[in-house]
Amino acid sequence: MSNGLTVDRFQEGLQTRWLGRNIFFAHSVASTNVWASELAKLGATEGTIAIADTQTAGRGRLSRRWFSPEGGLWFSIILKPEIDVGKAPLLVFVSGLAVAKTLRDLYKLSVETKWPNDVLVKRRKICGILSEMKTRSKRVEYVVIGIGLNVNFSVKKALPEELRCNVTSIEDELGKKVKLEKLFQTLLESFETVYESFILNGLAPAIIEWKKFASFLGKNVEVAVEDEKVNGLACDVDDNGALILKLKDGIVRRILVGDVSVGVNP
Ligand code: BTN
Repeated sequence: MSNGLTVDRFQEGLQTRWLGRNIFFAHSVASTNVWASELAKLGATEGTIAIADTQTAGRGRLSRRWFSPEGGLWFSIILKPEIDVGKAPLLVFVSGLAVAKTLRDLYKLSVETKWPNDVLVKRRKICGILSEMKTRSKRVEYVVIGIGLNVNFSVKKALPEELRCNVTSIEDELGKKVKLEKLFQTLLESFETVYESFILNGLAPAIIEWKKFASFLGKNVEVAVEDEKVNGLACDVDDNGALILKLKDGIVRRILVGDVSVGVNP
């Protein structure tokens, strides 16, 4: 490993019961989500993680490219929840909440969640989450949760120019590098707790906490829904993860899939 990290260093002192007990680590892979899916197909157990220093074909939502320079935390978690297929997309809120709590608790960053699955600091994206699911006979076979966290690099130096005004990193926010192992471990511990609560109690308790970070709520937003742009007031996110948008004409629309931009005139 170029930065001296090893599976042992990631696991030493890790307080989780099952998450991250199996870790596959590589210097460079195409995408940890693809790697984790292959591992899941080969029978990897719940909580197995694929992590890499860099990705050459990192995947973002909506088939976008995800830039993954060295210094970031690029990893994917294999989950095998016994839940309805329709509930599996809610895992992005579980993941976003775990990330938001970790960044707040470790570094006192002023973290925001943005529907459905972004984590921002001062309106700039610091983390993206990509959830991919495999089903069989209407049952969840496995879910891969990919987490991309911009950590120890300067966005200006490491990312293409077109991303620079909307993206940030922990290094840019704190003015220094942080310990990747500590961040990874705290994030896994937080994830395990939030995920177990989701399996036992459903999304309701998690979404209450998630909404405390959601500064876009109560603001006018523009939502890209397939080829359409919908403007309105972001009123709420319900227990099924839907965005409740009040349009200018008073009609309330419930949106399940889309991309939010804040600060646009309705
Ligand atoms: C997004 O905001 O568009 C989601 C980005 C998800 C990126 C992470 S990095 C680790 C994992 N592997 C991938 O190829 N993608 C996810």
